[in-house]
Amino acid sequence: MKHWDVAPSGAIRGRIRVPGDKSVSHRSLLFNGLAQGEAQVRGLLRARDVMSTWSCLEALGVEIEDRGDCVRVRGRAGKLQEPRVLLDCGNSGTSFRLLCGLLAGQAFFSVLTGDTHLKKRPMRRVTGPLSTMGARFWGPEEASRPPLALQGGSLVASAYTSPIASAQVKTAMMLAAIQADGCLEFDEPHRSRDHSERMLRAMGVEIREEEGTLIVPGRQGLQAQDVVVPGDISSAAFFMVAACIVPGSDLTLEGVGLNPTRSGIVDALLAMGADLEVQEEQVVSGERIADIRVRHSDLRATRVDGALIPRLVDELPVLAVAAACAEGETVFADAAELRVKESDRIAATAAGLIANGIEVTETPDGMHILGGRLKGGHVRSAGDHRIAMAFAVAALAGGPSHIEDVDNVATSFPSFRQLLSEVCCG
Ligand code: S3P
Repeated sequence: MKHWDVAPSGAIRGRIRVPGDKSVSHRSLLFNGLAQGEAQVRGLLRARDVMSTWSCLEALGVEIEDRGDCVRVRGRAGKLQEPRVLLDCGNSGTSFRLLCGLLAGQAFFSVLTGDTHLKKRPMRRVTGPLSTMGARFWGPEEASRPPLALQGGSLVASAYTSPIASAQVKTAMMLAAIQADGCLEFDEPHRSRDHSERMLRAMGVEIREEEGTLIVPGRQGLQAQDVVVPGDISSAAFFMVAACIVPGSDLTLEGVGLNPTRSGIVDALLAMGADLEVQEEQVVSGERIADIRVRHSDLRATRVDGALIPRLVDELPVLAVAAACAEGETVFADAAELRVKESDRIAATAAGLIANGIEVTETPDGMHILGGRLKGGHVRSAGDHRIAMAFAVAALAGGPSHIEDVDNVATSFPSFRQLLSEVCCG
């Protein structure tokens, strides 16, 4: 089991570019794989989760050519090929749930599986509504967990209200709907990330929004579309928080995706008094991108809840590290979804902060963090990439830390340590 020993650092300074957005990378392969025609994807995230989607698509007959600086995807014009192998999604919940929606519309049999972490994650949220549309699933606990076998085809879409704000559920339902008869009317409690809507519309799919409800008519084809993938704000967040909390820091992150459904971390840090500037804004492949300059500042406590949670759902562990350095008590609420991510992120974050000498009270849907001094310690990542990276950031501003089980950092950000060493002075 790989581990990191991270020492406190001098100021975080320089200009860097984080790798491509994971959500956009998955979608660029999946949607173009189903589309009519060929497309080039630039800036694709080369990390294990995206490679899981890539290899599953190849098993479904999609030709993907690696040209180094770009990837060429030849779409199958709506008709994938029945796989002869298990579709292994590794650690990637996005691959698994989006493939459930894609395959629900294909008239063949397939089996999806994943690693030990993924096998514990809830899948009923997609298999339930997709079964109502006509897909058939078999698997543990009434098709609630991987591995899952599925027989797709002959779907009928109708209205569905998701009990949780989840872009994975929404995207699975939209992918099924465009292959179905009928029309999907999709609602969720708060708006989840909208990369799918943006990319599918650019591919010619009709998606309307009426009073917050997404309307997706059935039987629609997609036209392949070139994609330039923005920098991943979820990866940039580790560097943003590092620069906020390490004295003397002045760091610029170039070309970061700032889709409004993803930029909650910027809003939360600004509410905490961060010295953060958004510069050079532009729109690339339908997504807002910008450079983000962050300088060290004193932070104050805040409250993070409600509609803000889906806008920063993956950034909560590192935001909790910022809260540990802030003056006062920060409250995270309405974040029960964090308990079913790659690990129970509320428990893992709270335990890591407590190991650092911070006062934390866990609640069923969040935690209260009393700002103090991070003193370093022995942190268990629970095999979760974002917990490992969050506590590497904590160590930079606090005391030396030993972080266990960091291998899964390669699922989203293989170059994290390298990039961190480039901007840590002293
Ligand atoms: C993702 C959606 C979010 C997020 C995950 C990626 C996506 O999950 O946490 O890392 O690409 O659609 P949920 O849909 O479960 O909220």
